Amino acid sequence: MPQRPYVIDEMISAKAIAARVEALAKDITNAYRETDKLIVVGLLRGSFVFIADLVREIDLPVEVDFLEASSYGNAMESSREVRILKDLRGEIAGKDVLVVEDIVDTGFTLHHVVNLLKSRGPKRLEVCALLDKPSRREVKIKATWTGFEIPDEFVVGYGIDFAQRNRNLPHIGKVRFTDETAEA
Ligand code: IMP
Repeated sequence: MPQRPYVIDEMISAKAIAARVEALAKDITNAYRETDKLIVVGLLRGSFVFIADLVREIDLPVEVDFLEASSYGNAMESSREVRILKDLRGEIAGKDVLVVEDIVDTGFTLHHVVNLLKSRGPKRLEVCALLDKPSRREVKIKATWTGFEIPDEFVVGYGIDFAQRNRNLPHIGKVRFTDETAEA
């Protein structure tokens, strides 16, 4: 199917993201200050830029692992069925774990991943999400730390894609289709 034409309007600047990431990392460092090692689990692929910036601001011994869950069935519609495409390399039983997610939308992905990881018996498991769209929620779940609450817009950039494009934008922008006819 040919891609509809669109432009990206900036929503959150790279500077605002950097300031928020620093503040989140301070809170996380403080919350886990007793740990001998924090396992930071990035959910692929959307969290890869966020996790790279976040771990460099966390002042604790950190180990990084990744998990990939399928979420969007097509480019813009969330699917209710969540599948694990790539599991963690390491064990998390008895460990301090922080799950890092790009966006909590309907909540299905995070709910599934948190239940799965909790069933493995971590000592402590918290979630840090860069973005939250609370108005879209269908499953009751909330990250421990959230970067920004945003309205119901489809966003890209800072690791987040639209049909695998635009992940390399340094800021977060919203997708606006340019072939839409204006409402009267
Ligand atoms: P959920 O299961 O509906 O909460 O979907 C979460 C996942 O859907 C996120 O990790 C993203 O990968 C993707 N997603 C949700 N909203 C957007 C968006 O606005 N742009 C790009 N991907 C999104």
